[in-house]
Amino acid sequence: MLKTVLITGGAGFIGSHVVREFVLKYPQYQIINLDALTYAGNLENLKDIQDSPNYTFIKADITDAVHIRTIFEQYKPDGVIHLAAESHVDRSISNPLEFVMTNVIGTVNLLNAAKEIWETNYEGKRFHHISTDEVYGTLGESGLFTEDTSYDPHSPYSASKASSDHFVRAYYDTYELPIVLTNCSNNYGPNHFPEKLIPLCIHNIIHKKPLPIYGDGKYTRDWLYVIDHAKAIDLVFHKGKVGDSYNVGGFNEWKNIDLVKELCKQMDEKLGRQSGESAQLITFVKDRPGHDLRYAIDATKINKELGYVPSVTFEEGLSKTIDWFLENEDWLNNVTSGDYQSYYKKQYRDS
Ligand code: NAD
Ligand code: DAU
Repeated sequence: MLKTVLITGGAGFIGSHVVREFVLKYPQYQIINLDALTYAGNLENLKDIQDSPNYTFIKADITDAVHIRTIFEQYKPDGVIHLAAESHVDRSISNPLEFVMTNVIGTVNLLNAAKEIWETNYEGKRFHHISTDEVYGTLGESGLFTEDTSYDPHSPYSASKASSDHFVRAYYDTYELPIVLTNCSNNYGPNHFPEKLIPLCIHNIIHKKPLPIYGDGKYTRDWLYVIDHAKAIDLVFHKGKVGDSYNVGGFNEWKNIDLVKELCKQMDEKLGRQSGESAQLITFVKDRPGHDLRYAIDATKINKELGYVPSVTFEEGLSKTIDWFLENEDWLNNVTSGDYQSYYKKQYRDS
């Protein structure tokens, strides 16, 4: 029986939804949220549950092995759900080493702490590593990523995530550490940091600023509502087979240009603007180096073995997401002030 679950990166986009899901659904668990509060971490994401009796926040950096070991000794977690990471591909192109430090070294520090604290007594213990479909590289016009697809990462971000996945599997093979992995497709939803395509475009549509589309806009991603990812993590953490990986997705592919047009359409309606007004903001800009053409997840295994199905359609999820951003303009204004402005200028200066 799991009692204490340590979630890393719980102040970030996906992590905050996972923390909320666990705090509310499992009052019998103690949920520890461990996060360094980088530019992407924001405790505002959790203000509705921050006073729950089964919730504790610890500010810590997973690259600090000594601090991580101390925290494991103090709280003795039975389960670890590891989401902390540097997550943005464009930032990994400007600063790869930071991605190696957090995504690779940080993951190994957590694996070591779990291994040492559990001392091969693995009854009721579990280490769930959250990964991405980007480790599989790129697809052509057809085909899907399955759990057996070979790893072929192209960006420093995906290379660091692939490396961390290999370490997690190595700890299972070598030390029998009870691990599970999930590789998910692109998430979207409330609290998404506006460096990523969907929230960046929502922010720019509100402010009538250009919508930067890399290259020809025909790059394809497979989108899943963030709360559906949190539910998949809950399922795999509790019922997934030790040592296994599960792909998570919703069979929901969109070319970037079509997605942004759909976003413009829904936002024109919600903002009472003329049909077609926001689409005029679409601007094609310099492509991302090493840009993967297409990602698409085959989520058959998690469906067949664990009965997983996403709860919302893309149109519903997108509508809820836009509504959340329109109702939480203070959140958006806070995260787009300060450092975000200099990031944005540097990233889009040639646009
Ligand atoms: P995010 O960037 O929104 O949040 C990352 C969180 O990790 C932040 O709260 C940040 O403060 C924390 N963090 C970063 N470095 C840290 C460190 N050294 N020590 C402790 N905490 C640190 O990321 P996200 O989009 O929520 O992604 C979460 C996880 O899910 C990542 O592992 C990512 O690779 C994976 N993932 C993301 C997506 C997606 O579409 N966003 C899809 C599949 C998988
Ligand atoms: O596939 C899962 C991955 O999805 C996660 O592992 C990553 O953490 C997450 O950031 C996301 O990566 P992407 O690179 O796919 O997401 P992003 O929102 O940055 O870009 C989505 C697509 O939109 C991609 O083809 C690049 C394009 N794009 C992005 C931005 C920020 C643009 O055309 N213009 C932009 O300004």
